[in-house]
Amino acid sequence: MKRISFLLLCLTIACFAVAQTSPSPKMKAFIDNLMSKMTLEEKIGQLNLVTPGSDIPTGSVVSKGVEDNIRKGNVGGMFGVIGVEKIKNAQTLAVKESRLHIPLFFGSDVIHGYKTTFPIPLALSCSWDMNLIEKSARVAGTEAASDGLCWVFSPMVDIARDPRWGRIAEGGGEDAYLGSQIAKAMVNGYQNHNQFTNAAVMACVKHFALYGAAEAGRDYNTVDMSKVRMYNEYLPPYKAAVDAGTASVMSSFNEIDGIPATANQWLLTDLLRKQWGFNGFVVSDYTAVNEMIAHGMGDLQTVSALALKAGLDMDMVGEGFLTTLKKSLREGKIRQQDIDMACRRILEAKYKLGLFENPFKYLDENRAAKEVLSADKKAVAKELAEHSFVLLKNAQQTLPLQQKGTIALIGPLANDKRNMLGTWSVSGNSEYAIPVMEGIKNLVGDKVNIVYAKGANISDDPAFIKKVNVFGEEITVDQKSPEALVKEAVDAANKADVVVAVIGEAADMSGESASRSDISLPHSQQKLVEALAKTGKPLVLVVMAGRPLTIGKEVEQASSVLYTWHAGQEAGNAIADVLFGNYNPSGKLSITFPKSVGQIPIYYNHKNTGRPYNGEVFSKFKSNYLDISNQPLFPFGYGLSYTHFSYSKVELSSSVVKPNEKLQVKVMVTNNGNYDGEEVVQLYTRDMVGSITRPVKELKGFQKIFIKKGESKEVVFTLTANDLKFYNNNLKYIFEPGAFKVFVGPDSDTTNEADCTFQ
Ligand code: BGC
Repeated sequence: MKRISFLLLCLTIACFAVAQTSPSPKMKAFIDNLMSKMTLEEKIGQLNLVTPGSDIPTGSVVSKGVEDNIRKGNVGGMFGVIGVEKIKNAQTLAVKESRLHIPLFFGSDVIHGYKTTFPIPLALSCSWDMNLIEKSARVAGTEAASDGLCWVFSPMVDIARDPRWGRIAEGGGEDAYLGSQIAKAMVNGYQNHNQFTNAAVMACVKHFALYGAAEAGRDYNTVDMSKVRMYNEYLPPYKAAVDAGTASVMSSFNEIDGIPATANQWLLTDLLRKQWGFNGFVVSDYTAVNEMIAHGMGDLQTVSALALKAGLDMDMVGEGFLTTLKKSLREGKIRQQDIDMACRRILEAKYKLGLFENPFKYLDENRAAKEVLSADKKAVAKELAEHSFVLLKNAQQTLPLQQKGTIALIGPLANDKRNMLGTWSVSGNSEYAIPVMEGIKNLVGDKVNIVYAKGANISDDPAFIKKVNVFGEEITVDQKSPEALVKEAVDAANKADVVVAVIGEAADMSGESASRSDISLPHSQQKLVEALAKTGKPLVLVVMAGRPLTIGKEVEQASSVLYTWHAGQEAGNAIADVLFGNYNPSGKLSITFPKSVGQIPIYYNHKNTGRPYNGEVFSKFKSNYLDISNQPLFPFGYGLSYTHFSYSKVELSSSVVKPNEKLQVKVMVTNNGNYDGEEVVQLYTRDMVGSITRPVKELKGFQKIFIKKGESKEVVFTLTANDLKFYNNNLKYIFEPGAFKVFVGPDSDTTNEADCTFQ
């Protein structure tokens, strides 16, 4: 067999480097040597990321002639190729048939789990449990790695305050502090704290930047915001991911200050590399380079040159780099060093992964057979789901249910598999999903009599259904008329002791290109809930959705509401566990629930304005509405438990904090209900006077603690001047001494406060 020269090249490599450190001399020497042999075409080839289209295309274009391009050295990496066999074929082509035998890297959208599907990221963020979130990334990364992948397009850390935007489902909610903790946990989980063994994968933080602020919640729309807001409220999670060592960053589709992120030099070079010290590589989003033609930035050659010069290293799918950079170089529109720099960064990523040493490092069929969809991963999927649910209402302690009597199990999502997985479950298989009906039966056997009725279609609107069903039949339309479905449900309810209605959104009613202007329950389901409420039976709503829904009316009609989001493949088992009290819900909202779309954007850390308004009654010449109060349906941080926690008054170690001193903030939390339970104790501050206007509250810390019934725990937080810093009008990160309020409570509405002065 022909000797492969890449092996010779690799003899010099002894150890792995880690992300965000300066390049090791060995890596530099290796890459200098390799690049000295590369032609211009081969260097540009490294900047090309392709998807063969046979698996999971997410845009309207897929790459052509992939095999031939690999042989020619025209490909740096691939995504959307799933399974060891296919990846091995592609890698073999690269290392055996391309001139310099440079290995490829292989990525995928591992967004919430890989083949074992976890709850959507927005759900997971409601666990406020960083160990669990890190574990979710570790387990997903390990599973993906064992199936041949070494790069995941996650975490998505876009702050979002507009639930009309479908992609709110993919992120960690509205808050920069919570979002930053999640970003760090996810990167550490995927990258195994930068120990790139064959169980760790490269993370790709996205979408850099500000994608979650798309105007009107319409996907891909314009973003325009002040730098002060950007630095204080939107950029911190991306920075946290960079600080944790993310190997890569994905540029976003939107513009920033009038320049699309993908060609925004301020963003990709000045901020990301110079200010934050990022030394990994930047990949565009799907055909985002080409899309700058539609943005009005010029033809393909122009936009490709702009992107490269701005600091973009890799072009996803569009092949603008591949087809135009050589010409631009000839015409003096870009410099050789621009290409060299981008190529070096891609090669460095491959080196750090250890692919030059062993291009087949991730490609072991036996390992895949053992790891993919293994029982331990299924158990993690269930654990994550249980911790993600948020109990929004529990009147008369309707929950937990008793394992006796008759339950009417109603609703279009009560016996559904496909929609459990949620959006962006590209490698998930709904065959493995456990519907609620099955989960309840698994748990209670025949101790409970279950009468099932679908009750309604997810939607009855044919035009809407067609748009949602693009990836398969998520919304099925029953043969029976809507009236007959409701009647069946009411009949079932009348026979039961309690009604459990599983309602909400189909998986692709949220996610990419799934914005909604009306985020209420579809009409068909509103009618169902109304009819069920009229029966007078205790009514438990289990709501599956990818976003906050404006369900004020339904919350009033129901006795209890458990918001489960799209909970992944173990949804049914996890929901059963919570409904029957095997797990006491502990989730807290990472996002504000509006009462009406007219209140959007609505978020807890808003400014006070010059005419603040407090209360429910309209007040002329105050900042309020004629037709609705300012209050949300549920505030950020909110979530109930089957037990009850009470808080002592917040106590400060001192009311005057001298420079360099620490402030201790203490509360006693008592579980005075009937169940053991977990509580997320939240610390907020308010900076009373600033050189710029400051939010009415800002999350500064949280602790998730377990307290047995009847017991109390003291919770202590420490605050320093450093925690109170913010970006001022000159974008300097500063601390301003003065008066502060400190709050500790169960959610962002807390009034448990104390005053202090930081000198
Ligand atoms: C999405 C990204 C995703 C990429 C690759 C794009 O449409 O915006 O989040 O990673 O496709 O599938």
